Amino acid sequence: MPSDLEGRAIVVTGSGRGIGEAIARGLAADGALLTIADIDEGNASTVAEGIRATGGKAIAVRVDVTNRDSVKAMIAATVKAHGKLDVIFNNAGIAQTKPFLAITEQDWRRVMDTNGLGVLICMQEAIKQMIAQGRGGKVVNTASIAGKQGYEPLAHYSASKFGVVALTQAAARAFGAQKINVNAICPGVVATDMWKLIDKGFKDEGLTSRDNEAFETFSAGILLGRPSAADDLCGVSRFLASSASDYMTGQSLVVDGGMVLV
Ligand SMILES: NC(=O)c1ccc[n+]([C@@H]2O[C@H](COP(=O)([O-])OP(=O)(O)OC[C@H]3O[C@@H](n4cnc5c(N)ncnc54)[C@H](O)[C@@H]3O)[C@@H](O)[C@H]2O)c1
Repeated sequence: MPSDLEGRAIVVTGSGRGIGEAIARGLAADGALLTIADIDEGNASTVAEGIRATGGKAIAVRVDVTNRDSVKAMIAATVKAHGKLDVIFNNAGIAQTKPFLAITEQDWRRVMDTNGLGVLICMQEAIKQMIAQGRGGKVVNTASIAGKQGYEPLAHYSASKFGVVALTQAAARAFGAQKINVNAICPGVVATDMWKLIDKGFKDEGLTSRDNEAFETFSAGILLGRPSAADDLCGVSRFLASSASDYMTGQSLVVDGGMVLV
């Protein structure tokens, strides 16, 4: 089915690699005008160059989503390059494997800062721009299956992702009248660098004894029989960025191959 993403100005945070990169490449292939935003400027530039090399349109921006001035600059760079902001994917996030009783105040603040505060700031600054434009818009947050169930030893990560679901619902209620749709995606076990870090954390904490064991254990019961690739999130992203989802808001869609059935 053809999408109507041609010419839509879309920011994807955390798109220097992983799920964000896959989402951004997919949207660019449909003709959207991308802002590849990441704290890793080198990765963001490589992704943007790759999109341009295949005929797509993309700029790269360094952003730290926890810093409001940095986020404002990302929105301003988008409007300067593409003339407007239609959609933002608040996808940047970090994870940490730590047994429940070992999580420190510093761990909690670090994870909450990026996954909670970072999403809040990006939502606020993007929505202000969309309201100023007066034509509505779409906000898509990356939550997780860990935003639907609390996982040990990822308690603080899970709490941050429940927070993303809550921000999604609250903003949907706040901005429906301005025709701003706010939804979230909840991926499952996705083979990215983040899962390599989570898997290493299990091993370092003595919870598993070999590389990839946690990844395999978590993936074992997936109904569709395999863990997720980042590209598995492209279909739902395209749907949530396009007019096909115009009558949907406040929802957090689980796209996990069948792990959490809600
Ligand atoms: N991998 C999974 O299994 C999985 C499952 C569910 C949800 N998620 C969520 O999906 C999103 C993407 O995860 P991924 O697996 O692609 O991870 P990843 O670590 O491969 O990529 C995350 C990207 O975010 C960027 N980033 C981190 N902190 C940032 C900051 N302060 N400002 C700007 N950019 C920042 C990183 O540089 C990196 O490029 C995250 O929100 C993650 O929590 C991942």
